[in-house]
Parts: sequence; structure tokens; C-alpha cells
Amino acid sequence: MGLSGVLLALLSPRGSSSCCGRGSSGRPSSAAACLLVVLSGVLCLAHIGGVQGYLFEGSPTSFAQFPRWLPGGNGSLQFQFLTSEPNGLLLYTDDGGSFEFFEVKLVEGSVRLRYNLGGGAQLLTAGRGLNDQQWHSVRVTRDYNRTRLEVDGILEVRIVSRALDHEFGSAGVNTPVWVGGLPDLVARQVGGRLTLQVVTLEPRFRGHIKGLTYITRDSIPRHQDIVSSQVSA
Ligand SMILES: *[C@@H]1O[C@H](CO)[C@@H](O)[C@H](O)[C@H]1NC(C)=O
Ligand SMILES: *[C@@H]1O[C@H](CO)[C@@H](O)[C@H](O)[C@H]1NC(C)=O
Repeated sequence: MGLSGVLLALLSPRGSSSCCGRGSSGRPSSAAACLLVVLSGVLCLAHIGGVQGYLFEGSPTSFAQFPRWLPGGNGSLQFQFLTSEPNGLLLYTDDGGSFEFFEVKLVEGSVRLRYNLGGGAQLLTAGRGLNDQQWHSVRVTRDYNRTRLEVDGILEVRIVSRALDHEFGSAGVNTPVWVGGLPDLVARQVGGRLTLQVVTLEPRFRGHIKGLTYITRDSIPRHQDIVSSQVSA
């Protein structure tokens, strides 16, 4: 659609930075205007192909950055994705280079959560054939020594007894939450400050993601908006 290499932020219910006519009743926005605005680094709300969400074109530099996720001992995060690709990095966040991290990726059409909260790296896998161009929901839930991965209602649970405090990092050190890939600057940092450095080698996600929501200590779901995103060319 002439927008290759561009990560577009699409319709977001509480989007703060509108540039293409917010709340237009599904009226397609001007692609050229969107491209210009996206290239200037501002998010662009649009509606393409009738699919709501953020569109990731999956280039080697595409990513979206969201606020930190601070689940405490029992928070959660959730989002929905739609893709035709069997592999790709959906989400990554860590504790600023110590040992704790959460990585959610699509592996051969299944969702795989890899995490470490101090008890060693753990794997949870759920769903199959998820690269079918339908929306699928993913939820990661912390519950002290228990971590749950839920994909379309299918639940996988891991209990780790060795974790020290069962909390994930802290507000002072945690990275943002990256979706679809990591920013080049972060990925190429000499010496690497990422906890899971190999995450930078994961294929970037191509498809749509919407509805990223965090629940923290107060149990109130909060919809998250993109903080920044990368255009590739
Ligand atoms: C999470 O834990 C806090 C206190 O540690 C408690 O107040 C809150 O109700 C818990 N939330 C859930 C969803 O269990
Ligand atoms: C996990 O925590 C629960 C509740 O605090 C506790 O009853 C259970 O024994 C713990 N399980 C392990 C394997 O540590």
C-alpha cells in the first residue's frame, strides 16, 4: 500500500497524539499525510483495511515502545495480535540487565513465554496455528510464585519456588516494554545492557497488535499507548 517500511499507529481509543483526523467515522486517511507525519516521528491514527490496531511491517528496524510494566507480585498484561507469519517477537521487557525478563514470541504459530524472575529461565507455550489472520488474545499473569500464560483462554501455568521476591525488577531500572522488536540503538549497544541479549536476534513481528493493557497492584486495567516507534526507511 505504498507504506512499506513504515510502522503505523492505528486507531487507538484513547490515543493522545492524533494526526490524521481522530474519530473520523472510519474514513480512510490520506496515506501521504500519514507517511509524512510518521516520518517526522509523530504517531498517526488511522484506519486501514478495516483492522484496528498497530500495524507492524516487520522490517529489521520496526518496533513500538510502551511504558514500563510494573506488575509487582501479582500484576498482568494482555494484548491481541493478528498475523500470517508463524514467527516473530511479540513483546520484551527486562530489569535493566540483571537477570529478570519477560519475552513473548510467536514460534511456529504458537505463543511462547520465556521469563525469569530469579528461579532460572522458564518456558510456557500455548496455542497453535495462530498465524491464521484472526485476532488472538494473550495474557501474562503474575501471581507470586505462579506465572500464567493464557492464549485464547487456553491456560498454561508455571510455579517457581526459588524466586526471591516474585516481583519483576523495579521502577528505577526496568526497560520499557517493546513490542514487535527492539529499537536499533538498544539492540546495538556495545556490551549490551539487555538481560536477554539474544532477543535482538529474534525476527520482528509482522502483523497487527492492539489492546495492550497492564494491571498492577491496584487491580485496575490500564490501556497503554505507544510512547515511540521506529520507521525503517
Ligand atoms: C495483589 O496484591 C495486592 C497486595 O499485595 C492486593 O492488594 C491485590 O488485591 C492483589 N491483586 C490481585 C488481583 O490479586
Ligand atoms: C507457592 O505459593 C503458595 C502460596 O503462597 C504456597 O502455598 C506454595 O507452597 C508455593 N509453591 C511452591 C512450589 O513454592
